[in-house]
Amino acid sequence: PPGAERFIPDGAHSLDDLKRAAPGCRGCELYADATQVVFGRGDAKAKIVMVGEQPGDIEDQKGFPFVGPAGHLLRRAVDAAGIEVPEIYLTNAVKHFRFVQRGQRRIHQTPEQQHIVACRPWLVSEFALLRPRVVVVLGATAAKALLGPSFRVTRQRGQVLPWPDAAQNPDDFRVAPIEGGVEVPPAKLVATIHPSAVLRADDQDLAFNGLVDDLKVVAATAR
Ligand code: URA
Ligand code: SF4
Repeated sequence: PPGAERFIPDGAHSLDDLKRAAPGCRGCELYADATQVVFGRGDAKAKIVMVGEQPGDIEDQKGFPFVGPAGHLLRRAVDAAGIEVPEIYLTNAVKHFRFVQRGQRRIHQTPEQQHIVACRPWLVSEFALLRPRVVVVLGATAAKALLGPSFRVTRQRGQVLPWPDAAQNPDDFRVAPIEGGVEVPPAKLVATIHPSAVLRADDQDLAFNGLVDDLKVVAATAR
């Protein structure tokens, strides 16, 4: 069967248990061309979990999430919003880099719904172990993973949302529940734009300030 759940160890008790198992995942085809799996990173007691799309080119090479240009921008925004880096755990909806090779260059490809669904058990397992207070949805791919396909980040960004049904009930999302079940934390969720969208914006200052405003909502909610 497709999907990551059969690669998640039965009774994983820690993020390290998950992280050790993740390189063996064959839940979709993306493992084949990527350099390595890029698992989430941060303190196990983090109150804030930020969910991006997938590792980029640099993350794929280094093996850590948000260590490229988008990550640098995100850290600046986190800082401007008054959030301390040790308070956050960073992860992605999809844990292998999806790209096409064009000569020497590897061009980012947005993951498809099938990749998001396949990889979701890792994300849900991270939540189950982290039990965060606030989950920050960075951009459309993370929104698809947690809020369903009809959610529009541009329209509902910066709002404090209750933990969504789509994330509460994996069956609704056509993802088999993880062995042993997952307790979903009573977290709040805030969606905002992806830091890469700030880098691509015509008015980068405006876009950056918008991201910071949303992260200030996150900071207040986590307190
Ligand atoms: N963009 C993401 O969504 N995640 C990363 O880890 C890096 C860039
Ligand atoms: Fe497994 Fe996710 Fe990698 Fe696909 S992208 S192989 S589901 S870890």
